[in-house]
Amino acid sequence: MSKLIEVNSSLDGVIVGETAISLVDGEAGRLLYRGRDIATLTSQPCLRIAGLLVWGRFLSTDEQAALDEFFAHQAVLQKADLALLQGLPAGLHPMRVLLSCIPALQVEPPPSLNGLPAPPDLLTGLSICAKLPGLLASWHCLQQGLPLPCQAQGLNPLESFLLQFHNRAASDLAINTLNAVQVLQMEHGFNASTFAARVCGSTRAPIAAVLATAIATLYGPLHGGADQAALEMALELGKPERATSYVREKLASGEKIMGMGHREYRVLDPRAAILKPMAEALCEQAGQSQVVATLSAIEKACQAHFAARGREIHANVEFYKGGVFHALGFPAEYFTALFAMARCFGYMAHWLEFQHNARLIRPKARYTGPVRGRQ
Ligand code: COA
Repeated sequence: MSKLIEVNSSLDGVIVGETAISLVDGEAGRLLYRGRDIATLTSQPCLRIAGLLVWGRFLSTDEQAALDEFFAHQAVLQKADLALLQGLPAGLHPMRVLLSCIPALQVEPPPSLNGLPAPPDLLTGLSICAKLPGLLASWHCLQQGLPLPCQAQGLNPLESFLLQFHNRAASDLAINTLNAVQVLQMEHGFNASTFAARVCGSTRAPIAAVLATAIATLYGPLHGGADQAALEMALELGKPERATSYVREKLASGEKIMGMGHREYRVLDPRAAILKPMAEALCEQAGQSQVVATLSAIEKACQAHFAARGREIHANVEFYKGGVFHALGFPAEYFTALFAMARCFGYMAHWLEFQHNARLIRPKARYTGPVRGRQ
């Protein structure tokens, strides 16, 4: 019998595999994609970063053009995709919409991608990723009673998404900001949803199931769902003056402050460091400075509470992201789905990497129940 190793059930501090996709350096507050600091990547088109994550290098001009064209074609929703959306109950949370639709989308990827190594499941997965913006924009229009948006020609995917979602052309600032946020959210090591994707992938389930599993895991408020919760907290409070008593009450009753704390980072999450000034500038421009001021006051009150107990806590990526998305006009219930739209590239990169070493992930449990009957 092989040697048993007992680890903590949250896998805190346990290394369960290797990856060359991203480095999450929790002590130094650094995040590298394929060796490159994320701060140097936010101004590059998100599909260029998707290529970097999935294939491990920046694609050549021709390869990138092929990937961009692939996305433009695959993004178009089929009649059957729209019928799926129309069959869903009104008011469904956008994350549930993604979870309902992803396994049933009509995807017909081409057999190859300009010479790039791309097994069929990768192309199917990337086709699903390409459809997520259209799904969310269409769902939003349906909920608003607006006509379903048409696929715009010749626009980059995020420009097209903003046009479809808001039913008007977006400014360069909005497009570039959304691009930067999506790049920041694309990948983050063995986080809970990526790990869930690896577990699902290890069973050789179809790629649609792998993506749905990951996105279902992302939904939780301790993971991706914290973005919506953090912004709603700031909106509910309304002004910075109420932050101290709010934080005191929440922590006294054992509740968490959403968007604060992180399993990996012992210092400020490098993504939060980029998002905070972005949220400040955008909210000021949109006449919503109170939102960021309230978030900042919550952050300070939470840090003061922990400092008084000799501990540190810092904002994570979710804390100020909501300020940015709010200023861009996205309703809070769409935040986590926008996150999924970006993180699906990380899931695909991990799925591809995992194929080289695929063995069923199947831990053991220590049985503590009774043993009855014949021994
Ligand atoms: N609010 C209040 N207390 C928090 C906290 C928060 N946001 N984050 C951590 N803590 C406290 C815990 O209560 C715990 O205290 P204890 O040791 O007295 O029990 C301690 O800090 C360690 O927290 P723990 O939850 O064990 O850390 P973890 O590594 O398991 O969890 C998170 C990390 C992200 C789950 C946790 O920080 C959290 O719940 N944050 C809020 C949700 C969130 O923003 N999630 C998005 C992450 S990117």
